[in-house]
Amino acid sequence: MAEPTDSAETADLPFRVVDGVLFPKFFETNRPMKEHIECLKALEMRDDDVILCAYPKAGTHWLWEVGSMLLAGKADYDKRSKELAMMEATEIEKIQQMPSPRLLNTHVPVSMLPRQVKDKKVKVIHVYRNIKDVFVSSYFHGKQYPSPEEITIDKVMAMNLNEMNKNGNYVAFMKSMDAFRKDNPDHPVFNVSYEDTKEDPVGTITRLAEFLGVPHTPELCRQVADACSFQRLKEADKTKEQHGLIPPAQLYRKGEVGDWKNHLTVAQSERLDEYVKELEGCDFRFRYTL
Ligand code: A3P
Repeated sequence: MAEPTDSAETADLPFRVVDGVLFPKFFETNRPMKEHIECLKALEMRDDDVILCAYPKAGTHWLWEVGSMLLAGKADYDKRSKELAMMEATEIEKIQQMPSPRLLNTHVPVSMLPRQVKDKKVKVIHVYRNIKDVFVSSYFHGKQYPSPEEITIDKVMAMNLNEMNKNGNYVAFMKSMDAFRKDNPDHPVFNVSYEDTKEDPVGTITRLAEFLGVPHTPELCRQVADACSFQRLKEADKTKEQHGLIPPAQLYRKGEVGDWKNHLTVAQSERLDEYVKELEGCDFRFRYTL
């Protein structure tokens, strides 16, 4: 497969590459992906916006639903799927029309966020997850889409780790977030891991409510944790308004920490251990088991 360098050269491939970041082609809405990203960078932010940033498969759906409930002040599911508030896959005009407070979400690295995020000190939630569970989750997600080639874990790793996705891969994404936090120590960023949330959902939800500055009681936090448990979210997902362009897939697969042990070979696991050494010095605590 030829290595694409930008949108124009990837017309026959199932993804676009914009400034070294891979995007599935079906993310493209009413503008070419490159133009969409430029519009996104110029997007006007509101003071009460919140942006959830996460590497794909890190728990975006989970934390988005939690955050939506906290902003609404009740444990009711948002009628929309989280993809309808996904900045790289939603028409700019639709983002502009969303009522406040907006909880937007994205998988793009910090360099592609709206410039006003920094200027207006827009609240950022960053959820991250250990790379091994992320890649296994990504493999099972990708396998659900029709593909001319068989999807394997090795191929998923190659897609994520190599130069093709040099500014959007796991290490690049995490480094961009770490650098942003260190360069902007006053910026409100809520940094939370999937594993910590899994271990103590009510504690995480309580801290998130404090970060968002929303009224909350222990009872509300317990209700949100319960409504956003894996099984309940999986059920609720069936009732949500779907994106339309993004092919439907079962996102709620297993929801566990450490499932990678059932799927990665020792060699694959060691390769990922080696790869994440590039993140030494970053302020993240990776947990591979609970
Ligand atoms: P698995 O494939 O390991 O099950 P994202 O939303 O970023 O695409 O991440 C999807 C992953 O988060 C999937 O992981 C999914 O099952 C898991 N997930 C979603 N909701 C969850 C919840 N309430 N509790 C635990 N894991 C959840």
